[in-house]
Amino acid sequence: MERRVSVSHVLTEAAPGVEVLVKGWVRTIRTGKEITFIALNDGSCLASLQVVVDAGTSGESALAGAGTGSAVAIGGVVVESPGAGQRVELRAASVEVVGTADESYPLQKKRHSFEFLRTIAHLRPRTNTFGAVFRMRSSLSHAVHRFFADRGFLYVHTPIITANDCEGAGEMFRVTTLPMTAPPLVEGSVDYSADFFGQATGLTVSGQLEGELFALAFSDIYTFGPTFRAENSNTPRHAAEFWMIEPEMAFADLMADAQLAEDFLRYLCRHVLENCSSDLEFFNEQIDKGLIERIRKVADASFAVMDYTEAIDRLKAAPVRFEYPVEWGLDLQTEHERYLTEQVVGGPVFIVNYPRGIKAFYMRLNDDGRTVAAMDLLVPKVGEIIGGSQREERLDLLLGRMAEVGIDPQDLWWYADSRRWGSCPHAGFGLGFERLIMYLTGMENIRDVIPFPRTPRHAEF
Ligand code: 4AD
Ligand code: MG
Repeated sequence: MERRVSVSHVLTEAAPGVEVLVKGWVRTIRTGKEITFIALNDGSCLASLQVVVDAGTSGESALAGAGTGSAVAIGGVVVESPGAGQRVELRAASVEVVGTADESYPLQKKRHSFEFLRTIAHLRPRTNTFGAVFRMRSSLSHAVHRFFADRGFLYVHTPIITANDCEGAGEMFRVTTLPMTAPPLVEGSVDYSADFFGQATGLTVSGQLEGELFALAFSDIYTFGPTFRAENSNTPRHAAEFWMIEPEMAFADLMADAQLAEDFLRYLCRHVLENCSSDLEFFNEQIDKGLIERIRKVADASFAVMDYTEAIDRLKAAPVRFEYPVEWGLDLQTEHERYLTEQVVGGPVFIVNYPRGIKAFYMRLNDDGRTVAAMDLLVPKVGEIIGGSQREERLDLLLGRMAEVGIDPQDLWWYADSRRWGSCPHAGFGLGFERLIMYLTGMENIRDVIPFPRTPRHAEF
């Protein structure tokens, strides 16, 4: 087979006069008596390549059966384009229709609602918006790895099947091979000792606990993997399956953790400004007019830090009515988070030192005895994008916290062991990858930034 080049290559690099072979999908086709125009897209970039096919070109007659959505291969010569907005176009010398598509192809119109496109998640990658989303998602994945590789962080693959509910929120999906209709019982409860792993297991809600074990050996580590939460919240920001990036640093405190989070987010902002400009301009025009300006500001500014206690005071003094009550000791809801980052600060803000009662058992108790060394990073439009903390490295205090929240130390004996030998201050955080993409594209629903979203009652594609 002759070598295919990408549309992106032709549009940005190929010199006029060069012969190329391109393959892709027809976005639009206009047939005249003498000439047929095809807009050809292969996903390599947002723009489509304009292809000009003269009547009588080899294979041209087959185009009669090739509507929008058809797969075609076209050989020809790159020529300077007389049209505005494109450097070059392709003058076809041969045309092959690889796979036809007729009028029943659902993506005929230029514009469809995101709701409709979710019902055809198997085809939406072929649209401009989703092309841009998933190119950016891929580019950001590489950038995440580069950021940590450049800083000497070890990349660790934490398990997906696990017996521990790290966040303690009881939102684990069960993994079992026991028969569902008649599981073995002891005293009325399911006997998991008869299950595949000999104990109750589920899909991980976080790689943190295993990540900590690696940080206590390799100093600086990160995980980047799928995460599962069976929380039944049908919101635009929650998915049952999402990807999380979790760094963990030994010999680090909460402020070092916040510094890493800030450096990381700013690095990713600069990455898209420098490497994803066409897609970013598309989002800026079509989805969110202030996007590029907002990202530029974040790339250059340093982030605010605010104590939880101050945040509560600010919210209480706010001239707005919140749906959920504001009281010291209660968790912040999205409406509160957005008010703080959008109205009070006008940019990203770390909220630090939350009440111990609303945070996970592993967070380090502060000297005041009533707060823990936690940090959440809130950003405009999205709210919480990062959650992290300094960890409780003191064994007695850790065991005390476990008892307080009803965790049997036997179940996490290996975690407690890490505080028995060579324990040290350490800290880390989790960045929700989809929340990041929402933030950097302006897309407002998490279902539209993950290829095949899993949400309550939806796992078809
Ligand atoms: O705040 P969370 O629950 O923190 C942890 O899981 C810690 N173990 C992280 C750590 O310290 N290593 O989750 C971290 C981030 C959130 O800030 C949010 O961006 C994202 O994960 N997240 C979700 N994203 C999509 N859908 C969900 N259901 C999410 N739950 C959390
Ligand atoms: Mg959180």
